[in-house]
Amino acid sequence: MSFSKDFVWGAATAAYQIEGAIEEDGKGLSVWDVACRREGYVKQGHTGQTACDHYHRFDGDVDIMKQIGLHAYRFSVSWPRVLPEGIGRVNEKGLDFYDRLVDELLKHDIEPYLTLFHWDYPHELFKRGGWLNPDSSQWFAEYTRVIVDRLSDRVHNWFTLNEPQCFINFGHLTGRHAPCLKLELGEALLASHNALLAHGKAVQTIRQYGKTPAKIGWAPQGHISYPISDSEEDLNAARKNMFAIKQKNLSSNTWWMDPVYKGEYPADGLELFGNSMPTIRQDDMKIISQPLDFFGANCYNGYPVKSDENGNSVFGGREVGHPESVGEWPVTFDCLYWGAKFFYERYGLPFVVAENGMPNCDWVATDGHVHDGPRVDFLYRNIAGLMKAANEQIPLGGYFCWSLMDNMEWMHGYTKRFGLVHVDYITQKRTIKDSGHFYKQIIASNGEILCNP
Ligand code: BG6
Repeated sequence: MSFSKDFVWGAATAAYQIEGAIEEDGKGLSVWDVACRREGYVKQGHTGQTACDHYHRFDGDVDIMKQIGLHAYRFSVSWPRVLPEGIGRVNEKGLDFYDRLVDELLKHDIEPYLTLFHWDYPHELFKRGGWLNPDSSQWFAEYTRVIVDRLSDRVHNWFTLNEPQCFINFGHLTGRHAPCLKLELGEALLASHNALLAHGKAVQTIRQYGKTPAKIGWAPQGHISYPISDSEEDLNAARKNMFAIKQKNLSSNTWWMDPVYKGEYPADGLELFGNSMPTIRQDDMKIISQPLDFFGANCYNGYPVKSDENGNSVFGGREVGHPESVGEWPVTFDCLYWGAKFFYERYGLPFVVAENGMPNCDWVATDGHVHDGPRVDFLYRNIAGLMKAANEQIPLGGYFCWSLMDNMEWMHGYTKRFGLVHVDYITQKRTIKDSGHFYKQIIASNGEILCNP
């Protein structure tokens, strides 16, 4: 037993991180374009101005995807490229770009997985209140309609929002991400509720107007807790921890996932947030909990948990010198197994790893290759963890590596490299890294190579 025959092997990117051309062909500004202009906000003053120049080089990039053997490519559409003011006037040239990209993918037998929103919110809508505006979910539905009308004859797989924990919690509460707001908890909760409504209305729009049958999901962060031992106590403690809300912020799993998959906010969150909660209208939860086809989540690492003597979930500790990536993220090898297991138990849909990967310090060696050994091992062990879940018959939909290529890593600028493909930002030369070659073998063997390395 291993991965099923129809398991989807892909890689992911996001518009702002790779496209460049931020002021070309009538594109409107996004909140990230504006944030990058703030002095000292992005490392070394980097911006998305050129990024990987994917806007002009997408056909070469699709060719590279084919060389790696990808079944699927998850990309996002830049909302302000298509609707410069966020609503109203459509920028045909912007839309044409995605048309050409989708055609190119299909020409190479690569299935497009389209993400409607990966953080580059239209600046013009931000000026009108952004996610705090009561019309914000309707704006998103209007934008979705434009994309569906143009692309749903060829696009059958959709993600609505990427990581609301980032663009709402970091973007509206802690100020770390664009639009860099530090709002009161109540206001951030209102923004979160509107974002959830936007997700629900986008699903309704795709189902209603899609020209072909659609598979729809979304991609919140999936924070994984794993038990530090085989004991039943630690296992229960990890499961409990993964679905608990302990802090007054919007970074948890359940604050976002329970409304979508269960149609209700989690009781512990409601209790913790108390009267900061916005008014929930009668039909809101019905809109938010539109049935989805798969359970997508971006999962990068796990949090070790054990049970204390009273049965509480507590931090299980990390050994001295534990593996860590250059981003100072812990590297935890079995996390996708535990993620698949616990998420499936709670939400009951096939698990799709919408992002998984690691930043590494990569460069082109004197032999012309990029020897990113740690990422090779990372892929090996993370995907082997997922395979363990497959062997236990946990339904799995696919795996998308983050990222296809090195790119503009938000406020870290170009200083963090996540790609299977190295990008020289001066010459825009692409070099498939050792990890890219290894991923090709994983795909070609449908994971079997992990059993016989
Ligand atoms: C995810 C995002 O959070 O992880 C990506 O969806 C991002 O866009 C990636 O590039 C890496 O995260 P970080 O925290 O290094 O920006």
